[in-house]
Amino acid sequence: MTHDATSTAQAIPVLLRVVEGGRRSQRDGSNAATSNPGGTVTLVGAGPGGADLITVRGAAALGRADVVVFDRLADPELVDLAPRRAERIAVGKGKGYGPDQQDICDVMVERARRGKHVVRLKGGDPFVFGRGREEIEAATQAGIDVDVIPGVSSALGAPALAGISLTDRRLASSFTVLTGHRCDESDHEWKAFAESGSTLVVLMAATTADAVAQRLLDHGRDPSEPVAFAHAAGTVDEQVARADLSETARRGCPFPSPTVMVVGAVAAAEAAALAPAAYEARVAQAT
Ligand SMILES: C[S@@+](CC[C@H](N)C(=O)[O-])C[C@H]1O[C@@H](n2cnc3c(N)ncnc32)[C@H](O)[C@@H]1O
Repeated sequence: MTHDATSTAQAIPVLLRVVEGGRRSQRDGSNAATSNPGGTVTLVGAGPGGADLITVRGAAALGRADVVVFDRLADPELVDLAPRRAERIAVGKGKGYGPDQQDICDVMVERARRGKHVVRLKGGDPFVFGRGREEIEAATQAGIDVDVIPGVSSALGAPALAGISLTDRRLASSFTVLTGHRCDESDHEWKAFAESGSTLVVLMAATTADAVAQRLLDHGRDPSEPVAFAHAAGTVDEQVARADLSETARRGCPFPSPTVMVVGAVAAAEAAALAPAAYEARVAQAT
């Protein structure tokens, strides 16, 4: 679980040469960028945290960008993959600050209309709580060609980096990704989450983890059910903490944003770090 920024910077250009020298996919944005004089928009998932967690295809698209419009959660090192001449536009949003969504769409469309290849670099995957769909609609409505390059969502990447296996045939056969921003939603939805028996992966829960836990308890989830928090996954600030549901309802999340909360028996066990016998013992304890 270490992060080495220097080796990332060295490795990505090597991967890029492999991509550029090898087979070019129609879907990586390269063909679209050259065939359409009106410019293009490529949505690129930056992956969770560290710069080395972007896909090779995403890194290659950055290498051809005329403009990079990037989020707060995308590693700034990735922006350096764009040519030096490329325009860089930070549009990071947080509670109460940052440009609104319409301004972001407008700047992308305006640059693409000038014939530029715009890379919209978004944390994790563009389509997981990322407003990717809205940005695609804005571009297509303006008649601009759009391409999407997926990223590793923090919903999957943060638990994996913490050694948590979201499914485990002995503990959980499904997982559900939800947002902590919707604690006020109908009982109906929370009842379904609580009763599912699924591993729950909660994004945007840093300030609402206590309310999330309480809603699950209200609908019958076991108070001793394990909870894990993975903060700043894939970066040098990465940290993991564990609790159970009742403690989480009392004390909330131990970390600020960005943090992923995992609820379920799998959250107790650190699959990657444990020898098989020790893991079996944890599984037996959790069931
Ligand atoms: C607006 S959502 C965007 C999710 C993003 N599209 C994705 O697929 O990861 C932001 C939330 O993602 C989670 N997140 C993003 N990056 C993270 C990281 N490196 N470590 C832990 N959580 C992260 C946090 O829950 C954060 O509040």
